[in-house]
Amino acid sequence: MNNCKLGVAVIGAGYWGKNLIRNFATAKRCNLKYVCDLDEKLLAVQKKCFPFIETSTNLQEVLNDSQVDAVVVATDVPTHFNIAQKSLEAGKHTYVEKPMTSIAQESKALVELAKEKSLKLMVGHLLEYHPGVGFLKESIDKGKVGQPYYVYTQRVNLGIVRKDENAWWSLAPHDISIICYLLGSEPESVAAQGQCYLQKDIEDVVFATIKFADGKMANIHCSWLDPHKIRKVTVVGSEKMLTFDDMEATEKVRMYDKAVAIKQDITTSYVEVISLRFGDIVIPKIPGGEPLSLECGHFIDCILDNKAIRSDGIDGLRVVRILEAGQKSLKNNGKPVKLEDV
Ligand SMILES: NC(=O)c1ccc[n+]([C@@H]2O[C@H](COP(=O)([O-])OP(=O)(O)OC[C@H]3O[C@@H](n4cnc5c(N)ncnc54)[C@H](O)[C@@H]3O)[C@@H](O)[C@H]2O)c1
Repeated sequence: MNNCKLGVAVIGAGYWGKNLIRNFATAKRCNLKYVCDLDEKLLAVQKKCFPFIETSTNLQEVLNDSQVDAVVVATDVPTHFNIAQKSLEAGKHTYVEKPMTSIAQESKALVELAKEKSLKLMVGHLLEYHPGVGFLKESIDKGKVGQPYYVYTQRVNLGIVRKDENAWWSLAPHDISIICYLLGSEPESVAAQGQCYLQKDIEDVVFATIKFADGKMANIHCSWLDPHKIRKVTVVGSEKMLTFDDMEATEKVRMYDKAVAIKQDITTSYVEVISLRFGDIVIPKIPGGEPLSLECGHFIDCILDNKAIRSDGIDGLRVVRILEAGQKSLKNNGKPVKLEDV
């Protein structure tokens, strides 16, 4: 397929879908054939922006078109499974927005279906495509931080207050995907506490701790009820510490040469001596590029060049398993919940 353009259809032209439409409409190796939504008014807006697209309110019409090689699902989360399943069954490579589904069993079924049909399945874990997060990943993988100990993330702001999902399901998929991508370890359990202040049974703020099989740990603070807008990841390692601050315009990443060493002092009394190191703070130059454009380009390239997808269905399933365990813990007053096998 690598000399031709990929025929793409985007399903869902709402708040996020329109960003995906813009990126697929302008991507070099892509022919955006269809935009599909139940809302005719949204379709008319997209047709005005991109007159070359066809629009439809009928998913089946889109799936029947042999010029559509790949389908991008940007609808409400509860509809993801049904639409993605139909898309894979129709033989289309499929991209699903985050979180992949609202139930881990459904994510697993999509992974199996994609495998059975030899089709690519990708999840929109946007921040895995952010060049700043990429720098953190490379630093960890090359051993520059030593042994990664723990990660914590903050994703807080005033709004957007959702009615159909809590702050955990709405905001944490980004953090969970970054954490799993950076640490590359298998999550074991989640303990999450939160409170519902604005709407009944919908948590506005959540503090969650994920424990990994190899002893690593991660903490997530997410809220839509906060005076600050913070989008920050901190990685603490045995040799160096890293931060990624997405609210910084240019200097998003900092590498701190800070660490603690424990040595035995045999000259005095065999006691352990703890020494602190305060070294330089480096602000590396991070390559540019809009993460969403890089993400859409990755989906297109992986299909046309038959390459492995970074945020594949298995990645999507892992995130949904953590979300599910966190949700159970939230309803059990923060009791740690082991991830269930699906
Ligand atoms: N990656 C990110 O940073 C990011 C940001 C926001 C939202 N999202 C994700 O994007 C997805 C959509 O969120 P949103 O905020 O755009 O929601 P939205 O409600 O604004 O848009 C969803 C659209 O899907 C359409 N739709 C629903 N069912 C349909 C069907 N069967 N056929 C065709 N169209 C259908 C609706 O009419 C609506 O226009 C969600 O999965 C959300 O989590 C991702």
